[in-house]
Amino acid sequence: MHVDVRNEADCSHAVAKALELYGRLDIGFNNAGITGASGVVGKYPLSEWRRVLDVNLTGVFNCMQAQLKVFEKQGSGVIVNTSSVMGLRGTPGGSAYSAAKHGVVGLTRSAAMEYGGRGIRINAICPGFVETPMVVGDLAGIPDHILRDKLSRTAVRRLGTPEEIAAVVLWLASDAASFMHGAAINADGGFLAS
Ligand SMILES: NC(=O)c1ccc[n+]([C@@H]2O[C@H](COP(=O)([O-])OP(=O)(O)OC[C@H]3O[C@@H](n4cnc5c(N)ncnc54)[C@H](O)[C@@H]3O)[C@@H](O)[C@H]2O)c1
Repeated sequence: MHVDVRNEADCSHAVAKALELYGRLDIGFNNAGITGASGVVGKYPLSEWRRVLDVNLTGVFNCMQAQLKVFEKQGSGVIVNTSSVMGLRGTPGGSAYSAAKHGVVGLTRSAAMEYGGRGIRINAICPGFVETPMVVGDLAGIPDHILRDKLSRTAVRRLGTPEEIAAVVLWLASDAASFMHGAAINADGGFLAS
């Protein structure tokens, strides 16, 4: 179904539809995101700042609100929010994205403290560079030597695959991760190790 995560009614509607179809909701994976334009803070357009924050941070908040209403009633549920390695460190030219993704980590940790005692687990995943349309589009105009330089800052010297991120999300969403609350896990091929 079409959902714009900036719109709280869309998010509530998606959760209502899941309940209608399945009778319950067990997992919320809040993954929608955009990179936004690049630019230094002093010249960054406010409209672009708002757009990036709206999708990447308020979008996660809107989804969580809709999901938590159900989880509170059930006394159970798991949320996995997508942050980024840029939610754990700065990136020149990407302040709006980095600020939004740091916000996702703060939101995740705070909500985990609020709901952990009520049978609800909330964590974040912080992927490194992963081969998806977002990154392929971003890297399309980048010369080879710069791409190689970016990748040389990871231990594995390659982009990750969506499947490698999905595996961590699935684990976080499963009962095997029952003691995981408020974590921001980097799955990044060793990017943050340097
Ligand atoms: N690819 C990477 O290297 C990487 C690294 C770290 C974090 N991430 C994060 O992973 C998540 C998934 O990104 P991806 O790499 O698969 O990129 P992608 O561009 O392939 O997917 C992003 C998805 O978000 C959706 N989306 C955008 N705005 C939306 C809105 N307002 N409402 C609903 N959906 C919306 C898009 O339609 C798209 O399906 C994002 O949150 C991104 O910031 C990606």
